[in-house]
Amino acid sequence: MTMTHVQLRQLFQKFWQERGHREVPTIPLVPQNDPTTLFTGSGMQQLVPYLLGEPHPLGKKLYNIQPCFRAQDIEEVGDNRHTTFFEMMGNWSLGTYFKKDQLTWFWQFLTEELKLPKEKLYISVFAGTKEISEDKESYEIWKSLGVPEKHIFKYGPDKNWWSRAGEPQNMPAGEPGGPDSEVFYEFTQVEHDKKFGEKCHPNCDCGRFLEIGNSVFMEYKKNPDGTFSPLPNKNVDFGGGLERLLAAANDEPDIFKTDVFSDIVKIIERWSGKHYEGENIRSIRVIADHIKASTFIILSGVRPSNKGQGYVLRRLLRRAAIKMHKLNGRLTPHEFANIADEGVLKTYENVYSDHQNTRETVMFVIEDELNKFEKTLDRALREFQKIDKINGKIAFDFYQSYGLPVEIMHELATEKGQVINLKEFLEAFHKHRELSRTASAGMFKGGLADQSEQTIKYHTATHLINQVLFDVLGNEVRQEGSNITGERLRFDYYSPVKPTPEQIKQVETIVNEKIKQALPVEFKIMPKAEADKLGAKSFFREKYPEMVKVYFIGIYSKEFCGGPHVKNTSEIGKISIFKSEKVGSNLYRLYAK
Ligand code: SER
Repeated sequence: MTMTHVQLRQLFQKFWQERGHREVPTIPLVPQNDPTTLFTGSGMQQLVPYLLGEPHPLGKKLYNIQPCFRAQDIEEVGDNRHTTFFEMMGNWSLGTYFKKDQLTWFWQFLTEELKLPKEKLYISVFAGTKEISEDKESYEIWKSLGVPEKHIFKYGPDKNWWSRAGEPQNMPAGEPGGPDSEVFYEFTQVEHDKKFGEKCHPNCDCGRFLEIGNSVFMEYKKNPDGTFSPLPNKNVDFGGGLERLLAAANDEPDIFKTDVFSDIVKIIERWSGKHYEGENIRSIRVIADHIKASTFIILSGVRPSNKGQGYVLRRLLRRAAIKMHKLNGRLTPHEFANIADEGVLKTYENVYSDHQNTRETVMFVIEDELNKFEKTLDRALREFQKIDKINGKIAFDFYQSYGLPVEIMHELATEKGQVINLKEFLEAFHKHRELSRTASAGMFKGGLADQSEQTIKYHTATHLINQVLFDVLGNEVRQEGSNITGERLRFDYYSPVKPTPEQIKQVETIVNEKIKQALPVEFKIMPKAEADKLGAKSFFREKYPEMVKVYFIGIYSKEFCGGPHVKNTSEIGKISIFKSEKVGSNLYRLYAK
């Protein structure tokens, strides 16, 4: 019998609730107060302060299903399992249960709730490094659960270590991380493809094995000298892709055939007149993934642009349009937008009903962007035709700047009796990909840029700035975001009136007065209604649970916040606002250090 995504969600929620877990509200796909990362890329992102030891208002056992987007996977889309948008099913133990309960419970979830045959499940555990010992405990737990040794594999930190920055050597000081244990499902109907190696194994990329869950044992924190010390708590951070668990539950190796994608694929088939088979498969997968991701990104309030999230959205829509072009000529922008409406929004209508934007908005944004793209393409073609000698690098620049497909450039070039050097094109392509991967690895760090002392000081300073701006510029001022590194803080805010240089100076003076007053910084965990009554500042786009954590700076400032903060404002030192600018309509930004 087929399992639907709605059934899978219900099973997961019930399972963790029965084991005393509370649901943490999801954070927006575009985090509002976390601009060190463009998109939310994992469920644990909002939990970093708590994994580092701050108490969580909902307690020590938590779960949720978090919408995520990973731009760095964009080039991988096209196989049976990679997507840019996905939902991560997560559960967490903040210093309460550890390896034994986590692995036993996840095993129960897989074998009893999802009824996955045990013989199709494989495990990986951490093999250890010179500094960090092998995870023998997990190995033994898996064995005691009845997993045969031949189904348990040991891998090094490239596979079985998890932190937001990847392997231990890439972690910044203060970053939490730990060994992990993954579970893989074997699709016995998929033949191993020797292109990926002589022998198949759980981490082989041929598509026979699918990773369906990752239990991270967050027990270490990186020290400034590169060594590791234990965190105050031994935590569990589990994440499993909903789409992948659904594929395993249905013994369906292609996630695009499960019901989180099937209607989207059907509509693409209808509009393109092409079946989901043979050489059409990859293009249809890319279109389906990109339209789905675009829809969720638009629903988070992003609009296409040449910067940040807007640029990612633009790239997704253009790539989808180009794939459709390859599949079967151009669709009208309206037909394209219909894939989002009848495919994506319908699929998720009973899951995400609290979007601020309506379907008309999604349709409008897609149509408008694709109309613009058609014009850009025409212009790019005209420019391209003017070039006398086309080399691979120029072709790549056109591909990169306008999204001009290489096939089209090839046809043009051929008309002129020229050939595009594909090797040069690919070199430029790979160089760019490496650069953007490095950049996104840096961007991917959630929370504050790091957990250094200076970053924490700036974090408390942003709370002061928030309150002082409100006092100086008026009570319609509200924080739109912040970006804090060890070098400076950046603070974005909405204000109906433009601040004058004198007002900014005044803000700086008052902030420094508050710092001098040596105000204590404390938090209280309280019901959300009580915090609202106190007038604690919150982010209007964030959803909060019924219990929240509020940080108080003396009696001067109150804010919903996870922390961490200094204990007393006197620790901050002097703050100077060195730049103030307008960044949008009624939107302003200031920098301070
Ligand atoms: N943080 C881990 C991951 O993203 C598990 O939740 O895979």
